[in-house]
Amino acid sequence: MDLHLMDAAPTEAERSAVDGFLGLPETGWEGGPERSAGDLRVVRSGREVREQRHLLLPALHALQAGVGWISRGGLNYVSQRLSVPPADAYGVATFYAMFSVEERPPTVVHVCDDLACRGAGGLALCEELERDAAPEAADAGGWVWVRSPCLGMCEQAPAIFAQRAGRAEVAIGGATRSAVDRVVAPDPDVANAGGIGAPQTRVTEGRERLRLLRRAGVADPASIDDYRAHGGYEAVRSAVEIGPEATIQAVTDAKLLGRGGAAFPTGVKWQAVATQPVRPHYVICNADESEPGTFKDRVVMEQDPFAVIEALTVAGFACGAEKGFLYIRGEYPLATERLAHAIAEARHHGFLGEDVMGHGFAFDIELRRGAGAYICGEETALFNSIEGKRGEPRNKPPFPVTHGVFGKPTAINNVETLINVLEVLRVGAEAFAAIGTEGSTGPRLFCVSGHVERPGVYEIEHGATLRELIELAGGVRGGAAIKAVLLGGAAGGFVGPDMLDAKLTFEDAKEGGYTLGSGVVMVFDESADLVDLCLRIARFFRDESCGQCVPCRVGTVRQEEALHRLVSGTTIGSREDELALIDEVARVMRDASICGLGQTAASAVQSAIARLGVFDGGVA
Ligand SMILES: Cc1cc2nc3c(=O)[nH]c(=O)nc-3n(C[C@H](O)[C@H](O)[C@H](O)COP(=O)(O)O)c2cc1C
Ligand code: SF4
Ligand code: FES
Repeated sequence: MDLHLMDAAPTEAERSAVDGFLGLPETGWEGGPERSAGDLRVVRSGREVREQRHLLLPALHALQAGVGWISRGGLNYVSQRLSVPPADAYGVATFYAMFSVEERPPTVVHVCDDLACRGAGGLALCEELERDAAPEAADAGGWVWVRSPCLGMCEQAPAIFAQRAGRAEVAIGGATRSAVDRVVAPDPDVANAGGIGAPQTRVTEGRERLRLLRRAGVADPASIDDYRAHGGYEAVRSAVEIGPEATIQAVTDAKLLGRGGAAFPTGVKWQAVATQPVRPHYVICNADESEPGTFKDRVVMEQDPFAVIEALTVAGFACGAEKGFLYIRGEYPLATERLAHAIAEARHHGFLGEDVMGHGFAFDIELRRGAGAYICGEETALFNSIEGKRGEPRNKPPFPVTHGVFGKPTAINNVETLINVLEVLRVGAEAFAAIGTEGSTGPRLFCVSGHVERPGVYEIEHGATLRELIELAGGVRGGAAIKAVLLGGAAGGFVGPDMLDAKLTFEDAKEGGYTLGSGVVMVFDESADLVDLCLRIARFFRDESCGQCVPCRVGTVRQEEALHRLVSGTTIGSREDELALIDEVARVMRDASICGLGQTAASAVQSAIARLGVFDGGVA
């Protein structure tokens, strides 16, 4: 490939950050110091070179983490090492919020001002920083702060996440100004928040009913021996005993539906991949978890990382894949650390590798980090992200089961879906199918946050009501009245207190016109400002739209503008005209967008208008 590199050269620090990840360049063509006589006779090209492109995102991560930004020289060097045109690499680098192609101070503190955090001190913290430190994104003396969408720590609101060049990234909950001071100080020993996580696992009563969370808070997340002592790796053993076909049959008979939002039957997906003649097959664990209000996958990964590894191994075995990817959102440093450790341990003890547990099948897992893009949770955007491209969704069909990552058959599942498979194999398909309801089998994790006494991840059996779940979380804070509950996250919708007896099942949700999505239950009492929350949701979608298709790129902007006009009283025409416009934009986005982001970008706002009368002189 004829690479048109830029003039800029990398600094020594940039070179060593990239080489630290990719290894030293083998030839002058790849950025080695000089072209040798050998280099002039042999040049690698074609497929061999193109196959390196998937290393682009981790290489950019290395650069960003090492020196704090991606300069032209640094980008040039990465491009040369991976034979990716610099313009392409620039397109990728600028796609992700965690990367900066402008020079900036080495420490960047992301302060969550999203739905759960803004009323819980997040906005106040932003104001305090603005007043006492520096305006947003301005140098505050070797560091900057920026507002951030949900950091996936809503149960510990308000949350911050800090990128610190040359030092470990940290995420902290219950954040105050002093927490910001600690993360920006030169002291390297700032610990990640261990997390409130799953309050149910901290009480003795009812613990025995936990299935998905049964090891959380009990087994040492760093010890594979402890994991095994608590039933770990029994599922792989069972799967091998019954074989891949029967494993898929068990998942099908258990009627397990995906927990990532779309509720697709997992057995059907696995069967479709397993029977594809094209090789290789891939399995992917989708741990991107960026839906505002969602944090269940983080808690599982932090507290029971080996379970995620084992479940993906079962998926690989069943689908005939020798390689799995675990794609985790970039803002989860503790979960990343624990999973990386778990993968290394599993490899070391023969639970991953050429001959898994001596059972004669090969499987290994590569951990990939996102870099701050909600859209990368959409499965086809995630494939593009792994492949080193911009995380833009693809048109479907073709579907991932035939054309997934690298164009090969791919089974992609959410973290919670996968750990449910362990339970299917533990209790048997029939027993699993008997849990919950006819249409929604098995246990389910919910992320309960906002104005409740004990926010956290709760495990219930499908069929419990919203009221029961809120009571499990200690009820509304201070016994206040509920004004609204956001179900399913920003892509979900608001319901009012009249819906508290709604059942939390897929079929009831469909019939009742509400959504469970990724299990978000964000409770708001009378003090909440729903108009403000709707504006934040509209801003979220405007920011996160990948911009690839017009209905979503333009629609998310128009939606936000119209809402602001309603709030400021500067409507074009009457209020009714604006509401009609918002409705029309919503319909266009829903019907004509390529992917689920655009299709759901108006759902929450629409529900607030239709169910609660927000913006219409009703509740606000
Ligand atoms: C904008 C958008 C974001 C998404 N984010 C996630 C995510 O963070 N995690 C996830 O598991 N699924 C997410 N999904 C759904 C995935 O595309 C896919 O359906 C899911 O990973 C399939 O897994 P499941 O069958 O186990 O649910 C998202 C979808 C859209 C449209
Ligand atoms: S709907 Fe939005 S996020 Fe999805 S492809 Fe279109 S522009 Fe991108
Ligand atoms: S971490 Fe702030 S809203 Fe989720």
